[in-house]
Amino acid sequence: MSPAESDLRSPEWFRSVVFYEVPIRAFYDSNGDGIGDLPGVLAKLDYLSDLGVGAIWLLPFYRSPWNDDGYDISNHYEVDPRFGTIDDLDRLVEGAHARGLRVIGDLVTNHVSIEHPWFQAARKDRASPYRPWFLWSDTGTEFSRARRIFPDFEKSNWTFDPEAGQYYFHRFFATQPDLNHDHPAVEEEMLKFARFWLDHGLDGFRCDAAPYLFKREGTTCQSLPEVHTFFQKVRAMLDAEYPGSILISEANQSVAETVAYFDAGHEFQEVLHFPVMPNFYLALAENNPRRILDVLRTTLSGAPASCGWAYFLRNHDELSLEQVSEDERALFFRYFPLPPEARVHLGVRRRLAPLVAGDDSSVLLLTALVLGLPGCPYLYYGDEIGMGDRLDLPDRDAVRTPMQWENGPTAGFSSADPSRLTRPLVTDPKFAPAARNVAEQETATRSLLWRMRTLLRVRAAHSTVFGSATFEGIDLGSTPVLGFWRRGQEYQILCLYNFSVQPVSGAFPLPERVWASPVELLRGGHSSTVTDHTFQYRLGPRAFSWTLFLCRQPRTAA
Ligand code: NOJ
Ligand code: CA
Repeated sequence: MSPAESDLRSPEWFRSVVFYEVPIRAFYDSNGDGIGDLPGVLAKLDYLSDLGVGAIWLLPFYRSPWNDDGYDISNHYEVDPRFGTIDDLDRLVEGAHARGLRVIGDLVTNHVSIEHPWFQAARKDRASPYRPWFLWSDTGTEFSRARRIFPDFEKSNWTFDPEAGQYYFHRFFATQPDLNHDHPAVEEEMLKFARFWLDHGLDGFRCDAAPYLFKREGTTCQSLPEVHTFFQKVRAMLDAEYPGSILISEANQSVAETVAYFDAGHEFQEVLHFPVMPNFYLALAENNPRRILDVLRTTLSGAPASCGWAYFLRNHDELSLEQVSEDERALFFRYFPLPPEARVHLGVRRRLAPLVAGDDSSVLLLTALVLGLPGCPYLYYGDEIGMGDRLDLPDRDAVRTPMQWENGPTAGFSSADPSRLTRPLVTDPKFAPAARNVAEQETATRSLLWRMRTLLRVRAAHSTVFGSATFEGIDLGSTPVLGFWRRGQEYQILCLYNFSVQPVSGAFPLPERVWASPVELLRGGHSSTVTDHTFQYRLGPRAFSWTLFLCRQPRTAA
């Protein structure tokens, strides 16, 4: 077993790594058909490993008609042929593990594709054993308190199926009928689905649409106790049969509902931090980070010591503004100049770099913040080079365009004719392949990619402190600076982030427990001095610093 492979065995590996989201379809096309595929991801593992990430999250690769980009599964036990074969998946997992990278899949248990043979059998015949695998109604009026998740596209959670002679329930698109989780066979099948891919070496799952699995009349049909019981069962199976593999919850809910997915360490090891995410952007809008600290103060203690919050700035969906007030939404739209077509549902289908008008400093500030917080940071593919989006594409395809590997007619994504690419390339001159691509940024040390890599490397070198050490916010009064300590056993890291577009300077007393001879972990954009145990700093516009202090020995030991 190589050292990289043995490292994978630590049950808490997930607390010290950075995750990178890979949409296979848009990442790299290995066979020239214009569609990204599994061998394509394998071919780019060295890139990912050089970037400094420790785990990749593969978006759904199961057979699917792609009405929801793979979140509509038509066969749970097959790789979609456009992505390759099961052997390709095995080779990818093996290649990742050999490099010390973990691989997470997507466990989609709420619904299947309308084309799935289970649904096809169920709709044709009321006596089919699959009929009770779905939710049927003669009126389509039940569960009326269940929110619609895609209100821009679906007018109801029920759709009448002439073939079935009844309405079926779907929380997402009508092409995604919900499974009936009250049917014991469904639960068994979903455990089988998880086991199948864990047997192929996956290190865990991001669990899609976690809150919605169970429905009860008179409730919002969200985060019901039955949901938690189900995921506790999945977790118990993982712990018993696949120790060291992890579950990550996708629950875009209020703080209280979201925290519940940790369930004191018995359910999910990681919970995506939806409540804090919009606040990263609102803090830019206000040139003031106070609101971030407020959310962290109420949520950090919610993650048990063996778990971690999963922070992200963007993902393959819209930037969701569901968890903020109407006033906050208005503030967001006043600050970020967005054409009307950028809005979808209650959010924004725009990538990170165009949101901040291509300002690398803002991209780095927010990235350094999610890397500095206790827990598990997630990066979205292409954000490391400041890729843009295409608002002329439908729905969330806007943020799923081919990865820009180099300047050229297919951005180095494929050898196919450019007209045959699975999605067209970004054309906005500020963010198109000619302006933003891996090959050119790799040769320029001042590029966004280099600075991202530096950040990731520094974080990796101090991964225990960044991943697990205590977090202590610093009261910096009315300054636009977010400051906190990450307190390790032997040393502590002071993290400062200036949210203002103006330079800022300030001072605060150092805690007694640190030696007053700090080491700056990052260069550029900031300076500091220590006099009389007072830390004086100066941060450029949207600049940040990470400073290491050795801990003093306790007095008795000294
Ligand atoms: C959340 C996924 O991130 C999104 O892309 C998908 O459309 C829904 N769940 C339904 O599976
Ligand atoms: Ca291909």
